[in-house]
Amino acid sequence: MTEPNEGMQAPVVTLDGPAGSGKSTTAKEVARRLGFRHLDSGGLYRALTLALLEAGTPRDEWASLTEEGMRALPVRVSRDGTEFSIEVGGRPVQAELRTPEVTAHVAFLASLPASRACLLRLQRTAGEQGRLVADGRDMGSVVFPDADVKVYLVADLSERARRRLVEGGVSEPSEDDVARESGVIAERDRHDSERELSPLRKPADAHLLDTTRLDFEEQVATIVSLVEALGAG
Ligand code: DC
Repeated sequence: MTEPNEGMQAPVVTLDGPAGSGKSTTAKEVARRLGFRHLDSGGLYRALTLALLEAGTPRDEWASLTEEGMRALPVRVSRDGTEFSIEVGGRPVQAELRTPEVTAHVAFLASLPASRACLLRLQRTAGEQGRLVADGRDMGSVVFPDADVKVYLVADLSERARRRLVEGGVSEPSEDDVARESGVIAERDRHDSERELSPLRKPADAHLLDTTRLDFEEQVATIVSLVEALGAG
């Protein structure tokens, strides 16, 4: 059997889109099927946020940190099979990156030039050898502008809210739950799209994929076939 990516030049694939559009789970599965590595850039912004919270640095001091100051935080990223494992304070973190406290502060951290500069270098290093699926807000627009395949995922607000609630353990969210969560997500969308640095935008050369009515398998298959088409061309 031939490898799906045989003959290709170590491609980089980017998946960007708003909160709850399904980027991370989709990127992870696309990477697994292609034998590429998956980079969850939101996880990196969350790791810096967690490190600052753990250090007890007051939030009104975050904006005065320099790029070097951010880089000195105890956040380490290393390759671990097809994933990158993230450590904060010397221990691997995963669920801790998604606590309500980290989620409440991460958008502010991500709006700071020093955090973006610090992570830009780290993300580009991760992509140097290609064979990467990177998901976030600015993967195709800023971090990997020459990516081989760019995808921009969207989904209706209420569908994104429903998915977030289900992921969080609410198996059958009520209309009220969905309305409340939609408000929270709309606020994050506004923050991510209106910020000055690396705002959330669809890169002109990205494929637009509306996942509102697609199931997970269809989303993954669509993106895998875009990558496989590179080898066929
Ligand atoms: O995708 P997420 O919810 O884990 O992202 C966490 C925060 O980081 C969110 O506020 C958007 C921001 N982010 C960003 O600014 N740029 C990225 N490439 C990824 C995430």
